[in-house]
Amino acid sequence: MPRPQPGPFGPAPPARGGAGLGRRPPIGRGLGPGPGPAPGPAPGLRPAGSPGAAAPAELLLSALAVRIVRRLSAPGPPPGPPAAAAMPGLGVCIVGSGNWGSAISKIVGRNVCHSGRFSPAVRLWVFEETVGGRKLSDIINQDHENVKYLPGHKLPPNVVAVPDVVAAVEEADVLVFVLPHQFIAPTCAQMVGHLKPGAFGISLIKGVDEGPGGLKLISDLIREKLSIEVSVLMGANIANEVAEEKFCETTIGCKNPEHGQIYKELFQTPNFRVTVVEDCDTVEICGALKNVVAVGAGFCDGLGFGDNTKAAVIRLGLMEMVAFAKLFCRGPVAVATFLESCGVADLIATCYGGRNRRVAEAFVRSGKTIEELEREMLNGQKLQGPQTAAEVYKVLTQKEMVDKFPLFVTVYQICYEGKSVQRFIECLQQHPEHV
Ligand SMILES: NC(=O)c1ccc[n+]([C@@H]2O[C@H](COP(=O)([O-])OP(=O)(O)OC[C@H]3O[C@@H](n4cnc5c(N)ncnc54)[C@H](O)[C@@H]3O)[C@@H](O)[C@H]2O)c1
Repeated sequence: MPRPQPGPFGPAPPARGGAGLGRRPPIGRGLGPGPGPAPGPAPGLRPAGSPGAAAPAELLLSALAVRIVRRLSAPGPPPGPPAAAAMPGLGVCIVGSGNWGSAISKIVGRNVCHSGRFSPAVRLWVFEETVGGRKLSDIINQDHENVKYLPGHKLPPNVVAVPDVVAAVEEADVLVFVLPHQFIAPTCAQMVGHLKPGAFGISLIKGVDEGPGGLKLISDLIREKLSIEVSVLMGANIANEVAEEKFCETTIGCKNPEHGQIYKELFQTPNFRVTVVEDCDTVEICGALKNVVAVGAGFCDGLGFGDNTKAAVIRLGLMEMVAFAKLFCRGPVAVATFLESCGVADLIATCYGGRNRRVAEAFVRSGKTIEELEREMLNGQKLQGPQTAAEVYKVLTQKEMVDKFPLFVTVYQICYEGKSVQRFIECLQQHPEHV
C-alpha cells in the first residue's frame, strides 16, 4: 500500500493534490455492464470460434464491408448519397493496425453490431506494406486476418482496412488511436482539416513524446494537432491475450461522462471489463512509465535473479511511477488510480509478459544492442520502454530530480550511456525508499 504523504522519496514534490486511497470513485462504477453487450453472443451474431455457417448478420456485414472497400478504393470522389444516409450512427475509425490495433478491432467490430449507437462498418487505417507479395490491406479485407501483426485471429468482416489515412478518418465520429507513439505526430499531421466536425478520440498508445518543456503526453499531442477531445484507454492488456478472449480488465480515463458511456459500449465485453475514471493524465502516464519498469524487470531476468527481485522491481517501480505522476500531471493524482488495471495490474503483466521485458532480458544475455534486438525479435513491432526512459530522464534532469528516481534513471543509462547492467542491482540496493 502506498504510504501517506509526504511522497515516496522524502518530501513530496510541489503539491498536485496527491490524494489518498479511495478519494474518488471511478465514474464507471455502479453502472454495471451498462448498455454494453450482455454476456454471451448477441442475437444474430455467431459466438467467436463457434462452428457452423455464418449467421445472417455476419453475411450482411461482409457484403457491406465489400461495398465500402470498393467505394474507398474507387478513384475520385465517392459516388452516391452521403454515407450517413446509408449508415446511421456514430462512425468509428481505428487509426493503427499493429498487434493491439488489430486485437481491439475484434472487440470494436463485434460491439458496434450489438448497439444501435454505431455505424456497422469499422474502418481500420493500415500503414500499407507488402506481406508475401500482397498488400496488407488487401489481405485483411479478403482474408479477414492481419497475418503480420495478429496472425491466427479472424477479424470481424465489418472491419474494413483502409490504407489512405484521410479516407479512413473523414467520416468518423469516434477515432481510436493505436499506433506506436513515434508515428502519431506525422499521422495526425495528415489528418488535419479532414475530420468530421464534433469528432472525438481515445488513445490506446503507451508512451510519451518530447515537448519543448520536456515530456508531452500523447493525448496532448493529438489534442493540439487535431483540436478534438481525447480520452485514454490503458490496462493490463497484452494484445494476443485480448485477441484470444482471455479475461482482463482495462481503465478508461475520460472527463466527459457522455463519451465515457460511449467508450464503455464500444469496448466492453464479458472478457474485457472497463472501468472509467476521470484523472486521464494519471491513467496515461501509468501506461507509459510501466514500460520503463519492465525493462528493469527484464534486466533482472537476464542477470538470473528470481521472483523476489522482480517483485521488488515492481514495487520500487510503482513508487517511482506515483512520484513521477505527482511531479508531472496537471490535475489531482488519485493514488487509487494506481490500483486500477492501468496501474498495478499493467505493471505486473508487463514485467512478466511484455516485449520490453523480453528484449531487455535478451540484451543482458546476448550483448547485442537494443536496436539490433528490436529488429531481430519483434518482426516490425516497436519497443516503448527505452525511448520513454530517455524522455523521462530529460524531464528529471531539467527538474534536477535525477537522484530521486534511480530505477528510471539507471534503465536510461544502461540503454543509452553504456552503463553496465550489473549496476541495476546496485540502484535497487541504494534506493532512497530504504533510507
Ligand atoms: N501490443 C500490445 O500488447 C499492446 C497492448 C496495449 C497497448 N499497446 C500500445 O499500443 C500502441 C500500438 O502498438 P501495437 O502493438 O499495436 O503496434 P505494433 O508494434 O504491433 O506494430 C507496429 C505498427 O506500426 C505501423 N507502422 C510502421 N511504420 C509506420 C509509419 N511510418 N507510420 C505509421 N505506422 C507505421 C505498422 O504498420 C504496425 O501497424 C503502442 O503504443 C503500444 O504500447 C500495445
